[in-house]
Amino acid sequence: MPGIVTCSNLKLSSLVKYTSLAAIDSLLNIRTTLPYQSCYEELIPFAEFDDMHRYGSAHYLHLYRIMQHIRISPADVFLDLGCGMGRVCCFAGLFPFRKSIGVDIDQRLCKMARENARSLRFRQSEIEIIHDDALRIDFEEPTVFYLFNPFGEQSMRKFLDKVYDSLVLSPRPIQIVYYNPLYKELYEQLPWLAPTHSYTTLVNPHEVSFWHNTSFVCP
Ligand SMILES: C[S@@+](CC[C@H](N)C(=O)[O-])C[C@H]1O[C@@H](n2cnc3c(N)ncnc32)[C@H](O)[C@@H]1O
Repeated sequence: MPGIVTCSNLKLSSLVKYTSLAAIDSLLNIRTTLPYQSCYEELIPFAEFDDMHRYGSAHYLHLYRIMQHIRISPADVFLDLGCGMGRVCCFAGLFPFRKSIGVDIDQRLCKMARENARSLRFRQSEIEIIHDDALRIDFEEPTVFYLFNPFGEQSMRKFLDKVYDSLVLSPRPIQIVYYNPLYKELYEQLPWLAPTHSYTTLVNPHEVSFWHNTSFVCP
């Protein structure tokens, strides 16, 4: 019956997905596939806005494709806003960034991300994990901002304001990777930001959009 075939196909695809994730985790000597549920009541007092999104992470295949679309120089600093267990900042640590930073509001996730950063095999760049509201940290150092849909509209507006302020204080070329861009229209309204390109992932289809600044580029 078609229903049974679809159901078993789904199970098979989940099995392939989690087996391949676990295999790459094990190759890198990190653990990012554990099921996790944040306790939002605990986190809300620490956040400026009550619009945090749940923990989830993209497959390494998607991350690899994203890295192919980023121009990386040894001066670049990568920042994952809402880094969770640190899969993305560990993966970025395999590339020749000057530094890879992850920030998350959930202390338990930060602890896991720090352990992963310490144990990561094949690391090429320094990895720093910060436990804080991503909207409170200093934005002047990062040049590549990665967002896997970490929060809602209010926080996203504040994020863009903070990036702008950091560019006024410290002009430099920046790149923003926005995965599953639910608030893309906020980006489109900004005269200092332009889309670089975008595509839709094949498995579990989501848009991945890339942006760069058109003003405050030169130091
Ligand atoms: C969808 S997950 C993305 C995880 C990670 N970026 C990845 O791709 O593997 C969103 C994460 O953002 C964190 N988060 C939500 N709001 C935040 C905030 N204001 N400051 C820091 N982290 C936040 C959550 O705790 C969660 O771990």
